[in-house]
Amino acid sequence: MVTMLAIFIFIFLLTFVYAGIRGAPWVPTKKKDIERFLKLAKIIPNQKIYDLGCGDGRLICAAAKVGAEAQGFEISLFPYLLANIYRIFQKNKSKIKISYKDFWYANLNNADIVYFFLMPKIYPKLKQKLEKELKHGAKVITYVWPIKEWTPIKVDVVKGYPNLYLYQRY
Ligand SMILES: C[S@@+](CC[C@H](N)C(=O)[O-])C[C@H]1O[C@@H](n2cnc3c(N)ncnc32)[C@H](O)[C@@H]1O
Repeated sequence: MVTMLAIFIFIFLLTFVYAGIRGAPWVPTKKKDIERFLKLAKIIPNQKIYDLGCGDGRLICAAAKVGAEAQGFEISLFPYLLANIYRIFQKNKSKIKISYKDFWYANLNNADIVYFFLMPKIYPKLKQKLEKELKHGAKVITYVWPIKEWTPIKVDVVKGYPNLYLYQRY
């Protein structure tokens, strides 16, 4: 029994470390910043929103609440399980999809809005993926770190909180 528990904990920790290498460790976007995200995103009902590394899923659930078709990708087991539990309690859960999937293998060409809170060291590779896959007019919102080579159409600045950067693909 103890061995089983140790194996489970080891696997959970392993996926946590792996996520840190593949994109970022789990650190949730603050509640107030989810509200800022919603204002910035100006979601139109049924728009498709992807959170690349959705953590506990609160951001995609908030997006679904205002009408989005929200999809999160997550590879760290603990936040993935939390996200699924959180999803169960949402009224509009049919609009929320949480995939246990590495977002590097997800095709983003249907996305209207892509959000991510990831380490800037992966930005050069992610920028290439976004430029290849995103459709004309799709929005990208990043938290904390900007995409240096792109020009944001808006930067949401609130004293004492990280910036949110809004981009639009042409
Ligand atoms: C900084 S957290 C942000 C969580 C969530 N987006 C939020 O804003 O609250 C980054 C998340 O991305 C996940 N992650 C990192 N690399 C990933 C990958 N390649 N595919 C899927 N999830 C990944 C991590 O496990 C972590 O939960």
